[in-house]
Amino acid sequence: MKSAIASLRTASSPAENSTQVWLFQSGTAWPAALGAQPEWLRSAWADKRYQHFFNAGGKQHLLVMLEDGKDAATMEKIRKAGAEALSSLQKSKAGSAFIHAQGIATGKVAAFAEGAVLASYRFEKYKSKKAGGLEELVLAEGSLPAIEVRNIAIVCEAVALTRDLVNEPASVLTAPQLSAIFKECGEASGFEVEVLEENRIQALKMGGLLGVNQGSDEPPTFNILEYKGQNPKNSKPLILVGKGVVYDTGGHSLKTSAGMETMKCDMAGAATVLGVMTAAAKMQLPLHIIGLVPATDNRISAAAVSPGDIITISDGSTVEVLNTDAEGRLILADALVFAKRYDPELVLDFATLTGAAARAIGKEGFVYMGTAGDDVKTQLKKAQETVYERGVEFPLWEEYAEQLKSPIADLKNIGGAEGGAITAGKFLQHFTSYPWIHFDIAGTAFNEGGPLGYIPKGGTGNPVRMVLEWLRQR
Ligand code: BES
Ligand code: MN
Ligand code: ZN
Repeated sequence: MKSAIASLRTASSPAENSTQVWLFQSGTAWPAALGAQPEWLRSAWADKRYQHFFNAGGKQHLLVMLEDGKDAATMEKIRKAGAEALSSLQKSKAGSAFIHAQGIATGKVAAFAEGAVLASYRFEKYKSKKAGGLEELVLAEGSLPAIEVRNIAIVCEAVALTRDLVNEPASVLTAPQLSAIFKECGEASGFEVEVLEENRIQALKMGGLLGVNQGSDEPPTFNILEYKGQNPKNSKPLILVGKGVVYDTGGHSLKTSAGMETMKCDMAGAATVLGVMTAAAKMQLPLHIIGLVPATDNRISAAAVSPGDIITISDGSTVEVLNTDAEGRLILADALVFAKRYDPELVLDFATLTGAAARAIGKEGFVYMGTAGDDVKTQLKKAQETVYERGVEFPLWEEYAEQLKSPIADLKNIGGAEGGAITAGKFLQHFTSYPWIHFDIAGTAFNEGGPLGYIPKGGTGNPVRMVLEWLRQR
């Protein structure tokens, strides 16, 4: 699978046909190569007009002025400046851009390049008339170490892969098809993929995954992705679990038409795990990481689970299914039980689990909660700030478990009207016996509005960059 984003590389000088971009830091010298500093520069700066096209030597150039500061918020502004420059370059029909970054701190060059590459993403597979766009971004040699250039490209490709899968309609991306893509990506980037088919899933008694799949014409799959770098720093594996509901109609507890419109995005957790695994393998991180993805669609038929049915998860826990639209937690339960066999150091799960998470804090962030120690939570918080894919921690107080008590089974699959993101997390916690954090990405995984800086409409790829930043810092 090849995603449509600009490639990133370095070169010593601009090619004949490329538009030149000049990064200019306030308080530093005007690039001598451009001749005398123009009059308009000072006033433009004062007016906060930070990007300008100008002509020099018979060619068009783009001047980009970068703000002072190096805190997380400033770095995010620089990423957005990269996105803005990219959009100007697209409009000017440039095919290639060469970036001069003399005297600019490497962190800012990296942020600018990342923002530009992420903004160059487009999903045009189903457009008969393709708009196309900027093909490549070329950084002046010496502005960023080669390894960093490569890492930015890898991370952006991973984000684009995740976005592609989220954007792909469910008629194409069925559970077996998702498994085929896992295998393809495993081979291309260097990790193992084992796909458990329906008979194996039955043998494992994964009643959550089988129950949700009951109304479907497509079989479920359970996917095991394994990457083991050389001399891994962790002796027990890190496990990443992703919700792989390729389409969520709600089942018999049917969604409204409006509620269903975006439900091809319900495998964003699975796509996040895949994006992270491909990049971790390409960067050859010295870690042992296992990805677990239960995959199915959630549909209606005479065979589908009905509200009131009782299903049995693979650890023997019985669940009264009062709402078939609370399906994510059922398939994740089987995956969290499966994770126990690896005696993991830590398990992170990613799921578009509840509308409640989105309602609580909006598209601005994900919510997360879990039993992992403060050290892990501090590291994750830092990674979130660094890449600006942020979240809010919710509590997992014991009291919330009251809402999940069933009179006739061990658990019921929904809590009361309030605190829905937490009761969903509380349900998942029942199936864990190791340090664990649950990320509810229902608010962030899919952008229903127009593009926001480097975040396109549709699949966002959030929180792939956050997880990778955290892994790299380990
Ligand atoms: N996939 C949805 C959650 C969702 C909603 C994701 C909006 C992205 C955007 C999930 O399976 C679901 O339907 N959750 C229910 C749970 C409820 C029945 C307890 C919800 O949030 O309404
Ligand atoms: Mn649902
Ligand atoms: Zn769902």
